[in-house]
Amino acid sequence: MGTERAAGHVHITFELPALAAAELAATGLPTTFYAGPTGEPRSAILESVRGASGIVCMLSDRIDAEVMDAAGPSLKVVANYAVGYDNIDLAAARERGIVVSNTPGVLDNATADLTLALLLATARRVVEADRFLRAGNDWTWEPDLFVGLDVSGGATLGIVGLGRIGLAVARRAAAFDMRIIATGSRASSPEAAALGIRAVTLPELLAESDVVSLHCPLTASTRHLIGAPELRAMKSSAILINTARGPIVDEVALVEALRDGEIGGAGLDVYEWEPSVSAGLLALPNVVTAPHIGSAGIATRERMASLAVQNVAAVLAGLGAVTPVDG
Ligand code: DGY
Repeated sequence: MGTERAAGHVHITFELPALAAAELAATGLPTTFYAGPTGEPRSAILESVRGASGIVCMLSDRIDAEVMDAAGPSLKVVANYAVGYDNIDLAAARERGIVVSNTPGVLDNATADLTLALLLATARRVVEADRFLRAGNDWTWEPDLFVGLDVSGGATLGIVGLGRIGLAVARRAAAFDMRIIATGSRASSPEAAALGIRAVTLPELLAESDVVSLHCPLTASTRHLIGAPELRAMKSSAILINTARGPIVDEVALVEALRDGEIGGAGLDVYEWEPSVSAGLLALPNVVTAPHIGSAGIATRERMASLAVQNVAAVLAGLGAVTPVDG
């Protein structure tokens, strides 16, 4: 595992946004980064991290024991450019004394905005209607042309895993006069009560919601949290929104439920086998899709990158990470 890398070397698996790149340059830490268009291939990561003290990575990079060992004993910090950190083997990091950090807080609003965009687009069939017009179909105003779910004024939103992003979604939903119910430890908090959120169990939430929106992290206990039985437990008119992580939903069961009319529609930003998307999903008219762009606001991405850089710099300066992951 010999290497000629300078002390404090930081490898970034992507090209940092401009402000964060300048912030990192100002630390004086030696850096390398991957400039390819679609993410650094794993074989390249295994080479480029050799001798690194810090790695700044994306949620699509699997940072496991093999990568940590490829970096070697110099590696002190892995800073994820994401709030979710299911791509990092925390146990392997702990065993090696490597600090792991993420980017909580700075992307709540952007992700909540996209959640509402998918919710409204799916409920009111905006993408279907857009395709219909572009296809040159004849039309006149008709009482049942693209009628969909009324969101404002009483539809029930069920937030699964109420945390920072779920609360940001709830604030927006409250402005639409939605009735809001939620699961998760913060569902009974004063913040939730102030938004009129009622804490419920998952079976209650599935039975009562017109819109089910997922905001829990992906862990061993949330993998396939929404499978065939849960989809069957939803209203046949209900829509499922997922801006969290794909594997929280059993995607095969989801395609079947949508195809068989067990649920009304889905708005999806994330997929079980990302970047692959089930062909069955893409063939369904009642599904609105986006390619994992929940946090893709220009300023949000700068803030995420800046926080990742601050985390690396703090750890390599011998301080604690700004936003460490508790593993
Ligand atoms: C995250 O930060 O985990 C988001 O999924 C990025 O969009």
